[in-house]
Amino acid sequence: MVDAVRTQVAIIGAGPAGLMLAHLLNASGIASIVVDNRSRADIEATIRAGILENGTVDLLVASGASDRVLTDGHRHDGIELQFEGEGRRIDFRQLVGRSVWLYPQHEVLKDLLARLLADGADIRFEHEAGLVTDEDTDTPKVVGRDAAGTPFELVADFVIGADGSRSIARTAVVGSQTGGYFREYPFAWFGILCEAPPSAKELIYANSANGFALISQRSDTVQRMYLQCDPDMDPASLSDAEIWDALQSRVSGTALKQGPIFQRDVLRFRSFVAWHLQKRRVVLIGDAAHTVPPTGAKGMNLAIHDVRLLHRGLESYFAGEGTGLVDRFEQVALKRIWRAQHFSWWMTSMLHVAADATDFDRRRQLGELESVTASAAGSTYLAEAYTGWPAEELG
Ligand code: PHB
Repeated sequence: MVDAVRTQVAIIGAGPAGLMLAHLLNASGIASIVVDNRSRADIEATIRAGILENGTVDLLVASGASDRVLTDGHRHDGIELQFEGEGRRIDFRQLVGRSVWLYPQHEVLKDLLARLLADGADIRFEHEAGLVTDEDTDTPKVVGRDAAGTPFELVADFVIGADGSRSIARTAVVGSQTGGYFREYPFAWFGILCEAPPSAKELIYANSANGFALISQRSDTVQRMYLQCDPDMDPASLSDAEIWDALQSRVSGTALKQGPIFQRDVLRFRSFVAWHLQKRRVVLIGDAAHTVPPTGAKGMNLAIHDVRLLHRGLESYFAGEGTGLVDRFEQVALKRIWRAQHFSWWMTSMLHVAADATDFDRRRQLGELESVTASAAGSTYLAEAYTGWPAEELG
């Protein structure tokens, strides 16, 4: 028999969603235990996207999770859409009065972990959750094993699945690990990190006849770039020179500053929303609840918005107000989730070239890019969505 540990909120997953929730709960005096199968070093080394919406930055700063985002992050007031070799800037500040911040996800994770551990939070690394049980009761459980193989059991008022796109908590909510609305794409991104100065002040999203490319950044000396590729591509199959040629051919309007490539990976694309985000006291947030293709840079931002809403609901419950607000989570969170699903799908389809695209498809796509960039009305939708819509409220 395993000794069950009792807590108020059991959180599976120490990614941005799980850690941010633990941090906000901590600040509200609500106890939580976070379990993750990875070590702290592995979590802090996760390479993910780097764009934070205005509202995400506000919450990180206001909650005391990160001041570094303002000092070490870079404010970007626009992006460039490049097509037919010509760049068109979308000026976020002029169009919607907001900006985004370039601050990589692993920096957010480092800030959150440092803060939580300093605050005495209970984070159990290398603890693999296997199953969520008792989802039909008022005390759902998480059962799993630690790195030594010793079983553990958490019993909580709420179990939160913040355990990413391969969520095990999903089974307790929708009956299977894959149950949801789902779309795959016939392409992926080949991502690199290289040692070079930035090639541009802002991000460049390029549509070219050879396919999509994204020129992003990490710092003054490290850059992140992506190239549309086949989902089955082997990252080792291209030489550095072939990668630079491919990137440069797709961003012909900008001379890329090259340097040694020290990291390569292939990111598959999918759109996913779980059939349901909650069952009684088991709730899914972040990638466990939904996945978006990376073109709109929405993944982490959407996760943080889920957390903001759920925290409000849990705060109300632990203040003795019952489950009324928590019960509204799914309905309210889904509004933004589906908006972001549409935006991410739209950016993806506007900017990538499918292998079976006809001449008509190609010309229609260029017409779309022209419509979006040629007028304030066209660009404003993109600017509004990219910088982030106003936060929803549970009521
Ligand atoms: C990144 O810098 O990794 C990045 C930026 C923007 C995106 C996706 C990824 O849309």
